Amino acid sequence: MSPRTLIAGNWKMNLLRGEAGLLAVALADHMRSATSGAEMVVCPPTPLLDTVAAKLAGTPLGLGGQDCHAESAGAHTGDVSAEMLRDAGCGFVTVGHSERRADHDESDGLVRAKAEAAHRAGLIAIVCVGETEAERDAGRAVDVVTSQIAGSLPEASTAANTVIAYEPVWAIGTGRTPTLDDIAEMHAAMRARLGDLMTDSDAVRLLYGGSVKPSNADEILAIANVNGALVGGASLKAEDFIAIHRAAG
Ligand code: PGA
Repeated sequence: MSPRTLIAGNWKMNLLRGEAGLLAVALADHMRSATSGAEMVVCPPTPLLDTVAAKLAGTPLGLGGQDCHAESAGAHTGDVSAEMLRDAGCGFVTVGHSERRADHDESDGLVRAKAEAAHRAGLIAIVCVGETEAERDAGRAVDVVTSQIAGSLPEASTAANTVIAYEPVWAIGTGRTPTLDDIAEMHAAMRARLGDLMTDSDAVRLLYGGSVKPSNADEILAIANVNGALVGGASLKAEDFIAIHRAAG
């Protein structure tokens, strides 16, 4: 049986409370009556978690954070812990997004520590990986991504506490996507690498992310070993995000 499809929205550093509340209400309304079996999760900026959590209460729409510190509490100005996210109503957190790897110099080791923190707090870690354009051009995409997976996954990772999101850096926010064959090749390679690291690797959800939109969601979600999508820009518009969720069947 293939794992349950997951459509996750990464709101990044966007929206204020009023807009976030309206978006959350529209998505929650959709999920109340959705016939698709796919799960939907939104990851708003931290100051919006309370507002969004209030709108999602009692609906099947899930909530996630965008990052967490490796420690549970302490002198880390500006950071949030996985326990705080859990306390705010989150069930998920993305770690190792390429924007954090680039903007905050996050290494595989740090991403692994953050994923461990997520597991400790009872959150599902959405561990993000992806090659740069130069790495793809040099024919190194599969090596880079499989080595990020090996370096970023805690030993205790299971299909129940971990999701992997493959997001080619050059496809994020650019409107460009890899070919369907390239996505299929990468997802097969990720599945194979996970087989060396985990006993239940077949059940791990592998998301594709990078310029997913209503017009390409169908074909991307139909690729073998693609078990969902991590969506940035198109997750900020209720209509688009709902269309992507519907494409998940
Ligand atoms: P995008 O972002 O859908 O805007 O390309 C995806 C992501 O960074 O998660």
